[in-house]
Amino acid sequence: MQENKTHNVATTRHDNKAVKKPNSAEILFEIVEKRRSIRKYKPCDMPQEDLKKILNAARLAPSARNAQPWRFIVVKDQKMKGFIAKSIGPQDHFAKASAVIVVLGDQNIAPDWYLQDPMIAAEHLVLAATALGYGTCWIGALADWVPENTASVKQAL
Ligand SMILES: Cc1cc2nc3c(=O)[nH]c(=O)nc-3n(C[C@H](O)[C@H](O)[C@H](O)COP(=O)(O)O)c2cc1C
Repeated sequence: MQENKTHNVATTRHDNKAVKKPNSAEILFEIVEKRRSIRKYKPCDMPQEDLKKILNAARLAPSARNAQPWRFIVVKDQKMKGFIAKSIGPQDHFAKASAVIVVLGDQNIAPDWYLQDPMIAAEHLVLAATALGYGTCWIGALADWVPENTASVKQAL
């Protein structure tokens, strides 16, 4: 993930002229418009506080019958990031991200919705990270429909 400057919510400037504070709808639309897939990352050690905020936004996502059939594995270990990147082929850009968050769906908890619900949570996660100024990129190559990519990674995680 990469640090970017996000919206400015200051209410006064150095010359004391009032600056309009964006309302929550404006902030939301700004974040949605700002989000795009980022595949180059500046070195940064994501503070635990930011990680907690991002994961909290994810767990607040809606889910069918409120089953919340998701689990999140945060990978910050460089060796493990490198291993995952290598396991899923040529797209190893995310090995340089400060954190990789693996989103899992629990089929036992929600047999009908274990694929959809975690993906909603994942987008909450992405938007929260964007709001905090991080660049993100979904990596679908770890999904179950690419079984050759997942077996060894699942075992390692
Ligand atoms: C389910 C899903 C899987 C994706 N998988 C990958 C991926 O494996 N590698 C990658 O670089 N981008 C991946 N992306 C990012 C898309 O390529 C990207 O969202 C799309 O091109 C639109 O660009 P934008 O995100 O900048 O708006 C994925 C996106 C989604 C939603």
